[in-house]
Amino acid sequence: MTDTHRHTEDDDPAGLDQPYLLLLNGPNLNLLGRREPGVYGQTTLAQIVAAVRGTASGGDPPHRLIDVQSNHEGDLVDAVHRHGPGAAGIVINPGALTHYGLSLRDALAAVARPTVEVHLSNVHARESFRHLSVIAPVTTGLIVGLGAMGYTLAATFLLNLAATMEVDV
Ligand code: DQA
Repeated sequence: MTDTHRHTEDDDPAGLDQPYLLLLNGPNLNLLGRREPGVYGQTTLAQIVAAVRGTASGGDPPHRLIDVQSNHEGDLVDAVHRHGPGAAGIVINPGALTHYGLSLRDALAAVARPTVEVHLSNVHARESFRHLSVIAPVTTGLIVGLGAMGYTLAATFLLNLAATMEVDV
């Protein structure tokens, strides 16, 4: 299938000291746009990443975006270890790992950065196995059921939080 193991970073050397947001997407989210569009919508992951990157770069100060999608939990754990500690915030849609991904949860707990969990669908209106999130207890908050817009709303929140924390110190 296409586009798995996606990992894009702005590699503009001039921007490397800019703050950044980390966007993580779990299994099957590389198929967005074609995967059960009645449930997950028509927007592709590339379009979502572009929208979040636009939100991040429009922040004050502008933020870069590091974006990782993987179908493998360990890759997401590695991405959290590598990019989490320096991130101003993390937006994560863990996909089905939401419901059982304990090593991903532990990685997020270890880096302890502001984190918003996003689900395109309203998981609480679906099968009961989707009602439990093992990730939620280690996040700042959740957005569910708002489709692709949930990602940009999450990024906006994290940018605001970062700006507020800067004022506080
Ligand atoms: C999802 C909901 C999960 O239950 C599912 O496994 C996904 C997508 C969502 O965005 O609605 O892969 O995280």
